[in-house]
Amino acid sequence: MKIFIDSADINEIKEVASWGILDGVTTNPTLVCKTGRSFEECVSDISKIVDGSISVEAISTDAEGMVKEGVEWAKVNPKNITIKIPMSIEGLKAVKGLRAKKIMTNVTLVFSPNQALLAAKAGATFISPFVGRLDDISHFGMEIVGDIVQILKNYEFDTEVIVASVRNPLHVVEAVRMGAHIATIPFKVLKQMVEHPLTDIGIKKFFEDYKKIPKK
Ligand code: E4P
Repeated sequence: MKIFIDSADINEIKEVASWGILDGVTTNPTLVCKTGRSFEECVSDISKIVDGSISVEAISTDAEGMVKEGVEWAKVNPKNITIKIPMSIEGLKAVKGLRAKKIMTNVTLVFSPNQALLAAKAGATFISPFVGRLDDISHFGMEIVGDIVQILKNYEFDTEVIVASVRNPLHVVEAVRMGAHIATIPFKVLKQMVEHPLTDIGIKKFFEDYKKIPKK
């Protein structure tokens, strides 16, 4: 199971990279906007820290434009740049075009197994079902992850599932159970995954007892 961070905040990314568990980064215009920096600055800094897939959102609405953006971004970091392509007919065409140029794609805003099937057939490197946004509208978001993992397995697609729009540690547990390849996780949830009250109590107790041991 690979762990990506869903963030454009360089301090968060640096911090999680230092834990030794980080395999990649996903960004989107909302996350970059929060940093107050340009997309280019963010991506260039992330590239210096993370040697793994870095997702960058295409903003064109036509396939030709998305492919052009992909080609430009790939020059920044040819090995790791992954172009986020919104699920649409133009998006599918762009995925095909970028695959032909050996540029990785992450089909984003996926909310159904059929969308995932089409993205995989077009040649997507990654597919991102947005589970939290489905939960927000009272659908069980993780259900489609199970379906998508099964579809990719049944037909031996090389596409990987990125569980996205993760809102809490339980989403990650479910993702692992279902055999999703990757979860992209916000900083806050990554920290929640580390914490457990019994661990804190245990550390405190061992520390206090250590102090009581007679010294030689
Ligand atoms: C993933 O690639 C997206 O950036 C992200 O997970 C969206 O999450 P949100 O629904 O919390 O905005």
